[in-house]
Amino acid sequence: MRNGVIAIHRDGTVALMNDEAYRIFGLTRAPGDLGRPFAEVLRERPPIIRVLSGAFELSHLPNRAELRLRDLDRVIGYTLSQVLDDDGRSIGAAMFFKDLTLVEQREESERLRNRLASLGEMAAGIAHELKNPLAGIEVMAGLLRRQVPDSKDAQSLLADILSEAKLANAIVVEMLEFVRPVRLQVERTDVADVLQHAVTMAESKTSRGEVAVKVDVEPALPMIEGDHHQLSQVFTNLVANAFEALEGKGRLVITAATKLVEADPAFGGSHVPTPMVVVDVADNGPGLPVEVTDKIFDPFFTTKPQGSGLGLAIVRKIVDAHDGRIDVSSTPGMGTRFRVTLPVSSPLGWFKQGR
Ligand SMILES: Nc1ncnc2c1ncn2[C@@H]1O[C@H](COP(=O)(O)OP(=O)(O)OP(=O)(O)O)[C@@H](O)[C@H]1O
Ligand SMILES: [Mg+2]
Repeated sequence: MRNGVIAIHRDGTVALMNDEAYRIFGLTRAPGDLGRPFAEVLRERPPIIRVLSGAFELSHLPNRAELRLRDLDRVIGYTLSQVLDDDGRSIGAAMFFKDLTLVEQREESERLRNRLASLGEMAAGIAHELKNPLAGIEVMAGLLRRQVPDSKDAQSLLADILSEAKLANAIVVEMLEFVRPVRLQVERTDVADVLQHAVTMAESKTSRGEVAVKVDVEPALPMIEGDHHQLSQVFTNLVANAFEALEGKGRLVITAATKLVEADPAFGGSHVPTPMVVVDVADNGPGLPVEVTDKIFDPFFTTKPQGSGLGLAIVRKIVDAHDGRIDVSSTPGMGTRFRVTLPVSSPLGWFKQGR
């Protein structure tokens, strides 16, 4: 049974608790659990105790309610009902529940995708409109420069105008890259190679300073089906962000390892575990303030004066196109870890091949 069930007698002792319930609550079954008061069996999970305690007191019992178990970082959906005897007297209560964590993650990324889609359309329009006037500014500033060869002040102002226009143009180009649909050139890709390449690229994009970089790839890491170039871009952006967060000092550790992940059958997956490659990019920089964590993947969200805020939005888009996942965890003051999980072989790979 994929649902968790716990049933209690009227006196508050546990009548039944199935394996799924133990799993969802993160508890291990002890021999004497049945017959013990539920408050003892569940003492590590006070929110559940609160729900069950209401079973004989509330006039309307919760139906399809949601409960967040903070310490487990888990969300459950549950229904509570009383168990009645033939005379309609309540002799116990039962709670049925389901782990909604995966469902919630899916919904969250769905919402994000929708938000990105509409922002993307707008951005494409703006970027397109900006390209021509920017090119005009560059050309005309260049012409003017030749007309005032002797004025030092004018030359330096014009040099500034040109470099600002170039910067604006670079942002427009990045923006168009972001809104363009991803077309993957799927090939057998060596993740170790991608990571090395990414570190070099990030060094040329931004300054590494004294940051110590360690790349630790599991010896027998399988090749994955992916787009070498675009995956390099993913890790270049993550590494560049880490360098920027570290401001020239600190440590960056990149690890890659294989992991078997069981797909949730509720989403059309099978129970057969699929091999994934998990890459962690972890720095010991300042970390992310809690209120910022939700926004970092939004296009144009940046805390940097020269940032476009498209780096992570592009990262997410490329990871999505690979049927992968990206998660971030961060402790302010301690550092930030981005985790990219990529399937070793993408079942959709051949359809996405852009030619
Ligand atoms: N490793 C990190 N440590 C701390 N903050 C980070 C880290 N990576 C990203 N961020 C935060 O997320 C924000 C968004 O990152 P993103 O890469 O999307 O844009 P950006 O780096 O600001 O600009 P761009 O990459 O377009 O030049 C950053 O401005 C920064 O505040
Ligand atoms: Mg960035």
